[in-house]
Amino acid sequence: MLTWNEPNNDLSPDKPSAAGDASGLGKIDRGAGRVSVDDKQMINARADVNQLLPLKYRWAWEKYLSACNNHWMPTEVSMQADIALWKSSDGLSEDERRMVKRNLGFFAASESLVANNIVLAVYRHLTNPECRQYLLRQAFEEAVHTHTFQYIVESLGLEEGELFNMYREVPSITEKAAWALDYTRHLDDPDFRTGTPEADQAFLRDLVAFYVVFEGMWFYTGFAQILSLGRRNKMVGIAEQYQYILRDESIHLNFGIDVINQIKHENPRLWTPDFQEEVRSMLRQGAELEAAYGHDTMPRGFLGLNSGLCEQYMHFIANRRAAQLGLSPVFPEVENPFPWMSEAMDLKKEKNFFETRVIEYQSGGALSWD
Ligand SMILES: [Fe+2]
Ligand SMILES: [Fe+2]
Repeated sequence: MLTWNEPNNDLSPDKPSAAGDASGLGKIDRGAGRVSVDDKQMINARADVNQLLPLKYRWAWEKYLSACNNHWMPTEVSMQADIALWKSSDGLSEDERRMVKRNLGFFAASESLVANNIVLAVYRHLTNPECRQYLLRQAFEEAVHTHTFQYIVESLGLEEGELFNMYREVPSITEKAAWALDYTRHLDDPDFRTGTPEADQAFLRDLVAFYVVFEGMWFYTGFAQILSLGRRNKMVGIAEQYQYILRDESIHLNFGIDVINQIKHENPRLWTPDFQEEVRSMLRQGAELEAAYGHDTMPRGFLGLNSGLCEQYMHFIANRRAAQLGLSPVFPEVENPFPWMSEAMDLKKEKNFFETRVIEYQSGGALSWD
């Protein structure tokens, strides 16, 4: 049983704790005092990043446990109905096929971009071991998500080169990827170090770009597109896989929001009015890029779904993300055009909904979705 407020068992109270080593790869400080909870911090910590205990951030550890309880693999979902529908000449309209392919193409590369960002950018600079523990789990989940797209390509006999190259060949997808990649690249610079207000703000920008915009906004319209087909009993295998991905991603998003808010709390000087305005404008840019993608993916729209509704959903979600970060709305207030999305996040309810096999991996621990 873990305790959350462990006493400081420092056996060498006269010795200072190890000097901050953000990576954990530095020379071992043989004479350093033991880790105290008070030395633990999200960024620029003095505490040894190689020691999980004593824990400081309960929310990070709980997300790690919830994520482990949600384990799933794409190959456990039957693709038979999807294969039959995809191969039948009148199963899907041309517009629906275009949307499905572009949606898959967007996600196929995006899962890798998100994974790269965690492993090559965020992990190095987040100096808290319980958060790093969650990042390791998240990195594995991104691998499972990439696996999902491999499995879909193989099952449906899609052209792999077409799908995995869309992020380079379809401008509306390229624009989104390029926008986010700029933030990873900045942090991946070997000379980049946190510890100045400018660098710490750059780190926050990356977290906003990936956790809030990429996973928290763009992925949500992506889920809505496929789940809207699933609601009409089309591509139910992919829809079920997307529900599992959505369950994972909603924890990724909430982890990112908690990380950002905790860094704000510990470093209030970073959260200046100018910086807040910059974050709001990032959310706005994210919504605009998504609107262009929506028009490109669904130029005509079809039953229950069109680019206008997706744009409205993005505005609704952007305002919601702004509120989660303690910011004022970025768009005029709008109604959620897809209220069923919140139900889609609850897999238990989905059992009657899709009438497909749902494996309930969740074995404990309450999940909060949004
Ligand atoms: Fe993912
Ligand atoms: Fe993710």
